[in-house]
Amino acid sequence: MVLKVLNLPDDKRVLVDLRSSDDAGIFLLDDNRAIVATVDFFPPIVDDPYLFGQIASANALSDVYAMGATPLLALSISCFPPKKYKPDVLCKVIQGAIDKCNEAKCALIGGHTLKDEEMKFGLSVVGVVSPDKVVLNSTAKPGDALILTKPLGIGLISTALKAGKADDNVIEKATEMMLTLNKVPAELMVEAGASAATDITGFGLIGHSLEMARSSIVGIRLYADKIPYFSDALEYAKMGLIPGGLHKNAEFSEPFEHIPDEIPQEMIDILHCPETSGGLLISIEKNKADRLVERIKEEGFEDATVIGEVVESPRGVIEIVP
Ligand code: CO
Ligand code: CO
Repeated sequence: MVLKVLNLPDDKRVLVDLRSSDDAGIFLLDDNRAIVATVDFFPPIVDDPYLFGQIASANALSDVYAMGATPLLALSISCFPPKKYKPDVLCKVIQGAIDKCNEAKCALIGGHTLKDEEMKFGLSVVGVVSPDKVVLNSTAKPGDALILTKPLGIGLISTALKAGKADDNVIEKATEMMLTLNKVPAELMVEAGASAATDITGFGLIGHSLEMARSSIVGIRLYADKIPYFSDALEYAKMGLIPGGLHKNAEFSEPFEHIPDEIPQEMIDILHCPETSGGLLISIEKNKADRLVERIKEEGFEDATVIGEVVESPRGVIEIVP
């Protein structure tokens, strides 16, 4: 771990920083307000530049939502290859970002672009939260239920897309999912008094669950038959259209996961699949979970469901139940 060798200063105003595996940093302004700040950028995962700008923005905004905060402003970060694309491609990406930020009532107030071999785009987002409403990933409690709000499989679908094997219908559905802000489910989870949350992105469901289990010093049990995913993604996994990040995720979490033999390999691939602008993983007292799922579903997140539970032990381990 690179971060372990860093010498971090102690600043009493800093509530969350690099020492935690949380989605964003938190800086206390006064008794009632804290600033939440995050940055995320990556290469295109769809061909359309306008859609890419929107997806990258929804993804970056998600880390602010995952902490129960409200985004206020954003700055864009672009790497642009002028030999590969005309300048209007970058304009379309940034317009996508402006429009998605607008939808989030977040002001895109500036940014920085540099020339690079490969296009990359993302945002640094600043949000605000009342310190007593912050939702961390380190406060999941044994006995909690775990809710996932969006289906899995984006990395497999984008690998199939690049290979020219993806079905148009599933590309459309997956794009729609990535464009959907985690805003409303995040507001509902704060209202319902969730104990912890994170969003599912590059490390996949098991990777992000593992971060939550470790930082909360608990174990996590996931019910394989309850986990929502794109059925086409499962087919792509069977066809061997596996993104590089999936292998890395699987390798990393291997020592900390219990997966029974009867779980088929393609389902294991889904559990490790890197996601973009994925759903929230919400930890909440069991007796409140069904009501929260119902409310999230009412808002159009039809795949939202309870996918597991938080257990006392084994700590720092993800157990998959068939
Ligand atoms: Co995150
Ligand atoms: Co992030």
